[in-house]
Order: sequence, then structure tokens, then C-alpha cells
Amino acid sequence: MEWLGAAYPWVKAAHVIFVIFLMAGLFMVPRFFIYHQECAPGSDEDRKWIDRERRLIKIILNPSLVLVWVFGLMLMVQIGAWHFGWFHLKLLFVLGLSGYHGWTVSYAKKLAKGQRPMTDRKLRLLNEIPGIAAAVIVIAVIVQPF
Ligand code: HEM
Repeated sequence: MEWLGAAYPWVKAAHVIFVIFLMAGLFMVPRFFIYHQECAPGSDEDRKWIDRERRLIKIILNPSLVLVWVFGLMLMVQIGAWHFGWFHLKLLFVLGLSGYHGWTVSYAKKLAKGQRPMTDRKLRLLNEIPGIAAAVIVIAVIVQPF
């Protein structure tokens, strides 16, 4: 199905551009959480971090995730990706990454309420997830091992 025609490389470029924005946001937000947790709920510093996290999520993370999915699904139809084993692996990790995104939005809301539910150590461990997922996703889509 060549439905994208000459737009195909542009759609793939747009997909990768918003992947870069998404990953930048997903790498930054847990870092913000760790620094945010060091300040007392209700303090000036606390309010600044709440505002920074809210803008990062609203301006970068949410729109990027939506556009990565929109362009990704257009590419999926273009190449009939559901026929390929590599795409099944990719989609599994992309769903995991989207779930991770959802967790960052809910954790930011908890911090904004003055809660500090996780230890720094746990946040640092969780911070590794986007990197590992991105590595598996990029290997799956570029190497297409199966
Ligand atoms: C959100 C759901 C996603 C879907 C449905 C999707 C689907 C696709 C499809 C079908 C292609 C085209 C492959 C081709 O033309 O050969 C593609 C390309 C690509 N995707 Fe995704 N993708 C998604 C998310 C992601 C994410 C989260 C990443 C990275 C973390 C990513 C990285 C890439 C890269 C690097 C390419 C270019 C591969 C190449 O140049 O051959 N994608 N994607």
C-alpha cells in the first residue's frame, strides 16, 4: 500500500523528530522528580518544580507522544508492519514506553499534592527504563532481526 506516496520519507522524518523530543522529555522528567523531592512541600522551590514539570509534560511530552503514535501508525499502514516479527517486538516496548509516560504524568500530580511516594534510589532505577526501551526499539526497527 503506497498510500503515502512521496510523503513517506517526510512522515518517517517527522516520526523520528518527535521520537527525539519524546525521549528528551522522558530522560529529563525523572531527573526533575529527584531534584523536586529534595525540597519541602509548599516551599517556593517546590512551586517552581511543579511549574517546570507541568510545562515539560504539557508542551513537550504529551504532544510528542501523540505525534510519534500518529506518524508511527501511518508508517505501519504504509509498510504493512503488522506482518513483521520485529514490529511486534517494537510495539510491545513502545506500549511499555507509553505506560512509562503515563506514570510520569501521575507521579508529577502526586508531587504537586506534596506527596513524596518513592525513594530517590527507586526513581534513579526507573530512570533507566526509557534508555533500555529506546535501544530495543531502535534495534528492532533498523536491524529488523526477525
Ligand atoms: C508509538 C508507536 C510507534 C509506531 C506505530 C512506530 C512504527 C514505525 C514504523 C512502521 C516505521 C517505519 C519502518 C520503515 O519504514 O521501514 C518506524 C520507523 C522508525 N521508528 Fe517507529 N514507531 C513507533 C514509535 C517509535 C519509538 C518510540 C521510537 C524510538 C524510541 C521509534 C523509532 C523509529 C525509528 C528510528 C524509525 C526509522 C527506521 C528507519 O529509518 O528505517 N518509533 N516506526
